[in-house]
Amino acid sequence: MQDKIKSIEDALQKLSPDAITDLEAFKRQYIGKQSLIQDLFKSFKDLDADAKRLVGPKVNALKQRAQELYDAALEAGQSAVEVPWKDASLPGRAMDFGSLHPLSLVERELMEIFDFVGFTLAKGPEIEDDWHNFTALNFPANHPARDMQDTFFVDSKEERVLRTHTSGVQVRTMLNSKPPIRVIAPGRVYRCDSDATHSPVFHQLEGLVVDKRVSFKDLKETLFYFTEAFFGKGFEVRFRPSYFPFTEPSAEMDIGKRNAQGGIDWMEILGCGMVDPAVLENCGIDPKEYQGYAFGIGIDRLAMLKFGIPDIRLLYENDIRFLGQFS
Ligand code: DAH
Repeated sequence: MQDKIKSIEDALQKLSPDAITDLEAFKRQYIGKQSLIQDLFKSFKDLDADAKRLVGPKVNALKQRAQELYDAALEAGQSAVEVPWKDASLPGRAMDFGSLHPLSLVERELMEIFDFVGFTLAKGPEIEDDWHNFTALNFPANHPARDMQDTFFVDSKEERVLRTHTSGVQVRTMLNSKPPIRVIAPGRVYRCDSDATHSPVFHQLEGLVVDKRVSFKDLKETLFYFTEAFFGKGFEVRFRPSYFPFTEPSAEMDIGKRNAQGGIDWMEILGCGMVDPAVLENCGIDPKEYQGYAFGIGIDRLAMLKFGIPDIRLLYENDIRFLGQFS
């Protein structure tokens, strides 16, 4: 008994809390029910009274020492994995919010403006066939009018094209529905052209109204309403006679701003006119009963004017420093 006490005493003496790496093993060896110290307590009851008096305090001291070591090691272990202190008053990490592309902003605004006066949305494919893009719109085959639009052909037979304008949606709408028709069709269009004011891909918003007793006056009223809603007051507007195969008469509309010299700087923003009777006929609508007006607005031009963007190519370069300025 004395020997056992002595060897446990020595072992515990040599141990320090941070030398105990396996707490569970230590507990099993010195504290648990099967531990060395518990064994001493078990044999204790067989001792005579004198021996008990001699050995008792020693065994108790061992028990206490083992418990202290265990507690200290446990505490040291816990503080090692404790979560480091955090300063909750520090500002949070900033989150970057996305913003709409300036073209999307303008397109959405236009849709709201026209929705307000009863236009609904129409759509057509960006890869269009020659008939919808040209023929049905009264572009004669092999006629130089087709050269007005520098077309990207998709196949070698030149039957399918990247649509050069949204006017093909007029044809699709007239074929698929009956008058009264009152639609807008915003979307991407393509032409083989590139400089500061022309991009090979750009955006238009087509408008078409077909009904009984529709006149050029209705067209002008609608376009005046749109320009004032979009640009506000303080802009001049003018119509210039023009030519498009699918309208008769045809016009272009310019928007003008007074410059420092007292003159007006004009910029063309749309083409328009009364739908040519031949187009109505191509689309199964009787021109004796119905008339129509149509317009095609350049969305990129509007965005450039509205936001003061000097070069159309900025709209297509995806430079986040540019795009982040609009919201
Ligand atoms: N499609 C023409 C273009 O891209 C624009 C245009 C002119 C559209 C007159 C129309 C219109 O609807 O009536 O140049």
